[in-house]
Amino acid sequence: MSNGLLKGKCGIVFGALNSDSIAWKAAEAIHAQEGIVVLTNAPIAMRLGELNKLSEAIDAPIIPADATNLDELNALIDGAMSHFGGKIDFILHSIGMSVNVRKGKHYTELDYDWLHKGWDVSAVSFHKVMQCVWNKDAMNEWGSILGLTYMAAQRTFPDYNDMADNKSYLESIARSFGYHWGIKNNVRVNTISQSPTPTTAGSGVKGFDGFIAYAEKMSPLGNATAEDCANYIVTMFSDLTRRVTMQNLYNDGGFSNMGVSNLVMQQFMEGEE
Ligand SMILES: NC(=O)c1ccc[n+]([C@@H]2O[C@H](COP(=O)([O-])OP(=O)(O)OC[C@H]3O[C@@H](n4cnc5c(N)ncnc54)[C@H](O)[C@@H]3O)[C@@H](O)[C@H]2O)c1
Repeated sequence: MSNGLLKGKCGIVFGALNSDSIAWKAAEAIHAQEGIVVLTNAPIAMRLGELNKLSEAIDAPIIPADATNLDELNALIDGAMSHFGGKIDFILHSIGMSVNVRKGKHYTELDYDWLHKGWDVSAVSFHKVMQCVWNKDAMNEWGSILGLTYMAAQRTFPDYNDMADNKSYLESIARSFGYHWGIKNNVRVNTISQSPTPTTAGSGVKGFDGFIAYAEKMSPLGNATAEDCANYIVTMFSDLTRRVTMQNLYNDGGFSNMGVSNLVMQQFMEGEE
């Protein structure tokens, strides 16, 4: 159902790989609310993914860009602005990758070249995107910029590995750049901290099935799905949230404020009573 929440708004969505991706669901939800989208992903991902299907379905052009490459980012922003015929209202950074996670390196034995690559892709790219947009003065007044994160930035989930540190850095960039954007253009910058979600990136984390099931039992509302996240993203891009900025916003069914739930307790109480 459309309420036209994003009517007249234009923006860039990074990170739709396949129909499981949070960014894919977000692009669909933005389109359903009458927002205009340019899709982007790393050139290599476009070969693996199915982005053309989404592009056709929501009438959104694809402009490939490696989010760590400033030249490609600048070309993306120019291309997007020429498609929109004006400036940008919203940006979704939905990008994450750790080579150490992918290759199963233990946190106590990290490869620092891989760490550097994962940090650049998962965290610094958020700064790079914003700096390129800043230099081109490409955001409209009251625009909205979002990154996606996970609560391993606040609490320890051992198998999340160096991605936990990348997410802490990403969240800090949202606060630091959020200040400057607010002063410059009334633009807001936030991160959404999402429940574990079965996507390509999510499922790549060791023990994912265990911690998605655990989070489901710990969260009074259950895990937030990719569609729930997409709806939250729409809200954050709409004019209904204009003065929410520099925040890490939990979309996690309550997980982040739980100590223990009865459902989890039950597993440790068997045999008692
Ligand atoms: N799935 C989860 O459990 C979960 C939970 C909380 C937060 N998140 C975050 O949500 C975001 C989206 O991930 P997802 O779960 O939808 O998985 P996904 O695998 O569908 O998306 C990750 C995307 O990052 C893109 N990417 C990687 N390197 C890139 C580069 N150099 N340049 C541009 N794009 C690049 C990939 O191509 C892919 O499209 C990530 O930031 C992730 O950390 C995921």
